[in-house]
Amino acid sequence: MSESSIRIPDKYSGYALSHFCVPKHYEDDLEDIMIPWGLIQDRTERLARDIFQDVRDEPLTALCVLKGGYRFYTDLLDKITTLNRSHGSVSVPINVDFIRLKSYENDESTGQIRVVGGDNLSGLRGQNVLVVEDIIDTGRTMEKLLAILANHGPKSVRVASLLVKRRQGSTGYRPDYTGFEIPDKFVVGYALDYNEYFRDLNHICVINENGKKKYAITE
Ligand code: HPA
Ligand code: MG
Repeated sequence: MSESSIRIPDKYSGYALSHFCVPKHYEDDLEDIMIPWGLIQDRTERLARDIFQDVRDEPLTALCVLKGGYRFYTDLLDKITTLNRSHGSVSVPINVDFIRLKSYENDESTGQIRVVGGDNLSGLRGQNVLVVEDIIDTGRTMEKLLAILANHGPKSVRVASLLVKRRQGSTGYRPDYTGFEIPDKFVVGYALDYNEYFRDLNHICVINENGKKKYAITE
């Protein structure tokens, strides 16, 4: 099942923005680049292989947790379907499905999750579900989502998360597949947002105080 993930240490200071390309409209809003896009791709390729080997011929329903998970989801599924094309002895039929949750405002969890969109979850009955998420932070969102999914009678549920944050107050929840274990910093890019901004940034970056202020929601 789960391979150990890549651990980004607390002391790691990332790459300078000047080493890679970032959109001009975000240049003043980022501290550094924590995970460049290319490294995300390489790691995702390996997660796809691990998932492919674990599933072995069983149809898989890949459930994208929107919006933050959408880039990881499309890249992960692309890589799984590439393995399917190789005509080896294993092949994994894939259904796609989407769910939309909301739990964050500014850089704080609101403590509640709301399912605000997606298909009727009753379609998950009897399915092998792979939940695809961008980040596990406190773990509470995922634990609540898993409880919701369990009510719909799936055959199995596995979770792939690109990132897991090391933070105080974590429930201790660990996904089956993890891309990177990261320090307790607020990250954006590669579809991870801060109040809906930064999804259009390829690399996973650390937001700075300027960015937090500029895009804050004020009552
Ligand atoms: N960035 C974006 N979204 C998040 C984060 C984060 O660090 N933690 C939980 N949701
Ligand atoms: Mg998310």
